[in-house]
Amino acid sequence: MSQIAPNAEARRPATRAPGRHEPAAPAPVTLDVFRSLEREHDFRPLRAEGAVPPGLRGTLYRNGPSVFDAGVDPHWFDGTGAVSAVRFTDGGAEGAVRVLHTPSADGDAGRRGASFGAYGQKMSWRRRLAALFGGQSLRNVANINVLAWQKRTFAFYESTLPLEIDPVTLRSIGETDLGGVVAKGMNAHPHRVPARRATYQTGLRVGPKVLLDLFELPDEGAARLLTSVELPGVMEAHDFFATRDHLVLVLPPLWCSSLAMLVDGGFASSLRWRPEEGTRVIVIPIDEPERRVVLDTDALWYWHGVNAFERPDGRIELDLVGYQDFASNAAWIETVTRGGLTTGNGSSVRRAVIDKEARRVSWEERWPHACEFGSVSPAFASQAARVAWLAGYPQGDEGRALWSRIVRLDLQSGDAQRIDPGTRGLVSEPVVVPRSEREDDVWVLAYVHDQNAGATFLGIWDGARPEHDAVARVWFDQQLPPTLHGTFVRA
Ligand SMILES: [Fe+2]
Repeated sequence: MSQIAPNAEARRPATRAPGRHEPAAPAPVTLDVFRSLEREHDFRPLRAEGAVPPGLRGTLYRNGPSVFDAGVDPHWFDGTGAVSAVRFTDGGAEGAVRVLHTPSADGDAGRRGASFGAYGQKMSWRRRLAALFGGQSLRNVANINVLAWQKRTFAFYESTLPLEIDPVTLRSIGETDLGGVVAKGMNAHPHRVPARRATYQTGLRVGPKVLLDLFELPDEGAARLLTSVELPGVMEAHDFFATRDHLVLVLPPLWCSSLAMLVDGGFASSLRWRPEEGTRVIVIPIDEPERRVVLDTDALWYWHGVNAFERPDGRIELDLVGYQDFASNAAWIETVTRGGLTTGNGSSVRRAVIDKEARRVSWEERWPHACEFGSVSPAFASQAARVAWLAGYPQGDEGRALWSRIVRLDLQSGDAQRIDPGTRGLVSEPVVVPRSEREDDVWVLAYVHDQNAGATFLGIWDGARPEHDAVARVWFDQQLPPTLHGTFVRA
């Protein structure tokens, strides 16, 4: 377990690589994320600084909005996805990047007045009317996440079909319903439960009823629809939680107004924050999904969970990166993705303890500092993990712009270390690769969009020695558009 002394952060304001000198208040990382990908290419050698660890063999896949040509005033989330990959072999590190293609994205590409809507972009009248009857209204930009499942690889957007891609060429193969299992679409955050040798995934299905489908993708055998939860309306349900025995939906009160959608035609502009309704928590036993328990708790906004597990006493504990409300977070995203500065975003790591018997959800703040994109070692996901890895900030400069530090957070003690990537650059979601049975014996991989070099590198950190500099940096020869999520697939 961790060798970090208690209250490490209080004594050490910001973790620095040895020999690096960081000013007391480093400049916040600002970046206009709407610059499209410059060049696609197949796998080719990447320049490496340092030595890629011999035990690290496999491919990191990352996805993010990368081509902005379909709307006049796009939102970051509207850009067509591109998957980039870094492959580690005995011969060195190789990188590739490819723009993704779906019928809806290709059909709208380059058009003035696109037909399909996206997160921010408004849809045509034809699509609005079609949406009323359950027709496809969103352009599948496939730009959020990547899942490797049964030797197949998929890119995800939300409420649209998974896009299968070739794991070697990264070229788009086509949208798939996984053998008729996915009626309408999947969302972007699969969660694997190692004890069940299965991955779970949600999907919002809008039609005469609004259903949140829950899917099971076993390591072997066919995918299946586990259950569907009827919702009173269309809502933003980006992420969810999986424990060994339960799936947990934490549904903030962010509803899409059907009337606004019809009149206005935009998804984001039709979202309504209704804090008086509180956040709904639905606990679904995986083996008996109809025996679900529905609880209500205080309103909060979040995009991403960190981890969840069952305590020995039967209560469920989950951690997420929470915000006070949706509007302030939406305004923050608008500003920072256009290269602006804010006064902060109010995010923090929050813990919920769910007592199904007492029908109570209690909250506490675990780490009162701005951050995003938290996860634990995949070997410990859905279990009582102690160490979380997040994208964050230097102390004293939190949430004003884009993320510029990797954060190692001890979820029990609340102690944190902030890893300086060694340059001024945007730090992506850290991806954790286990290398032994010990939770903190991991490699931590993160893209850094280096503003000094004008190029993106993948940094490899030793998770057991986060105070040390990266063991290796492998460089793309261009600045990749910032990514949202990804996965590492072992060789
Ligand atoms: Fe996400």
